[in-house]
Amino acid sequence: MVQVRSAPLRAPGATASAPEPVTVPARAPRRTSVGVPLPLAASPLRARNAPEQYDDLAHAWWDEQGPFAALHWLAAARAELLPAPSAPGATLVDLGCGGGLMAPHVPAGFRHVGVDRNAAALAQAAERGVEPVQGDVAAVPLPDGCAEVVVVGELIEHVEDLPALVGEVARLLQPGGVAVYDTINATFWARLSLVWVGERLPGGPPRNIHDPRLFVPPRRLAALFNAHGLEVEEQFGLRVHAPSYLRFLRDRATPVHMERTRSLAALYAGRVRRAR
Ligand SMILES: C[S@@+](CC[C@H](N)C(=O)[O-])C[C@H]1O[C@@H](n2cnc3c(N)ncnc32)[C@H](O)[C@@H]1O
Repeated sequence: MVQVRSAPLRAPGATASAPEPVTVPARAPRRTSVGVPLPLAASPLRARNAPEQYDDLAHAWWDEQGPFAALHWLAAARAELLPAPSAPGATLVDLGCGGGLMAPHVPAGFRHVGVDRNAAALAQAAERGVEPVQGDVAAVPLPDGCAEVVVVGELIEHVEDLPALVGEVARLLQPGGVAVYDTINATFWARLSLVWVGERLPGGPPRNIHDPRLFVPPRRLAALFNAHGLEVEEQFGLRVHAPSYLRFLRDRATPVHMERTRSLAALYAGRVRRAR
């Protein structure tokens, strides 16, 4: 069995009490040498964006050559947008944290809290020092203003209720706090490069992990941020750095560098700040 804490942070003024553990049955008896569960059989092809895919791929979070390889590359790029903590113990809330791939990149001094609905992913995040919170990112079980930083990495394009997610980002942030995000634009180029072709390339996203119906134009995202009191400070496109991808194709070991580009046509990233 895997136990995941449901609410490690207290609302201001609330009395201390032990968090309620959420118990989920372990799915796979076989494990790798580092304890990561292996799938019992080849993954079935699920409907686009089906949440069950994260159970099928639970063994793959920390495999840098596996189906989540690109998430490792993006975590490193995302980290460049993170500020240092204002004081030791400041809270960074990582929404849709998955297996905790941000953990090696979070600046020292932050308390790294990860929110996800997938218990197997959270269990792996916890092994990397992330405080796990099981819940829906559209209704996060954490108190208002608890976070100095919110991370929203490769999540926006997976949620059905985007206004609710953006509302939660704003609610969790302290005045003056920042959120960093990366996601996928709703363009033909994004569908071609990241879905139709990208899903078939080494290091590309797993088959059917994305539903292009949920891809988000930067203008819509900025309007939602603004409506919730968040100002876009910085925004740019991200693309694979071709020479490092060629090295990855050759050895399947060298991490691929994601380089910044002015074009927001496919992957894009940015940072917003809540007004003081
Ligand atoms: C593509 S993965 C990204 C994981 C991580 N942010 C990273 O970049 O490595 C998307 C994650 O969001 C989670 N997720 C998607 N929708 C969610 C929701 N509504 N509530 C909580 N978690 C969600 C999934 O379980 C999955 O772990």
